Amino acid sequence: MTVADLPKIELHLHHEGAAPPAFIRQLAHEKRVDLSGIFKSDGSYDFRDFAHFLSVYEAACEVLKSPEDFRRLTLAILQESAANGVVYSETFLSPDFCGGGDVHAWRDYLSAIQDAADEAERAYGITLRGVVTCVRHFGPDQARQTALCAAETAGNWITGFGMGGNEAIGAQADFKWAFDCAREAGLRLTTHAGEFGGPQSVRDAVRDLGVERVGHGVRAIEDPSLVRELVDREVTLEVCPGSNVVLGLFPNFRAHPIAQLRDHGVKVTVSTDDPPFFHTSMRREYKMLAEAFGWDADDFAALNDTALGAAFCDEETRARVKKRLERT
Ligand code: HPA
Ligand code: ZN
Repeated sequence: MTVADLPKIELHLHHEGAAPPAFIRQLAHEKRVDLSGIFKSDGSYDFRDFAHFLSVYEAACEVLKSPEDFRRLTLAILQESAANGVVYSETFLSPDFCGGGDVHAWRDYLSAIQDAADEAERAYGITLRGVVTCVRHFGPDQARQTALCAAETAGNWITGFGMGGNEAIGAQADFKWAFDCAREAGLRLTTHAGEFGGPQSVRDAVRDLGVERVGHGVRAIEDPSLVRELVDREVTLEVCPGSNVVLGLFPNFRAHPIAQLRDHGVKVTVSTDDPPFFHTSMRREYKMLAEAFGWDADDFAALNDTALGAAFCDEETRARVKKRLERT
């Protein structure tokens, strides 16, 4: 057995970003939508940089237009995750892409997604929870609407609220109302920061929005006082090394700061972000980290312990997942 075979927890996965290109092409074919411009000749997604990635992502979403589409997508994602040894996963769901921010439509999409998650749990033994996510470049007003959708459906399944999208636009604090609304509804909080934004973006995320997890956060390594603050506040980073390498933050896995952050005492976890876009999977992330840093089964077990502790699920679910991690 290699470390890639270990059971895994994934905390940072964009639902639409996990759609296999063949799945999106099939829907485009069924709906007679021409999406040929977003694929390379080898069938993979075609993008140049982060801004272009976001626009290709949104183009792919054009064929995800009904609860049934999301039911099928959810089954495809969970089958793939389970095949990678993932036993517990949290996915970012955007009401913007599920009914355009309308709360009644959002409930229908969510119900289809949850049905698929129940089916996948029975079939593959993987547990999914949802983190409602606003899109930063859609602006603070849209984010309020998203937070209201999140608050309406907060519970044992929708357990968190977060923000993705283009970090270059606006400030974390512009979204304070949305995050406060979600917090008051009992949701746990995370936001993308320190991916394309520098250390100040991470500082703003923890200070202005009060998040307990940060998506990426890796550029915190540029500021030792921020690294100490993350350790003191016990903030967990949802690190996605393969995504960072493809988007050009670091030239390769060996140059990625995940090991340094961990060695400074920061709580780090490992996820794929948008796996088919970044030509990765959880098995590949483990394999690449093992090769780059010599991490062994104990290192990955510690990583999964950190992820389990930071998971936005109830204690009964956490205990159940813990047993699955131990069963090997
Ligand atoms: N980063 C930021 N926003 C996103 C991403 C991502 O990888 N995927 C979808 N929205
Ligand atoms: Zn992300």
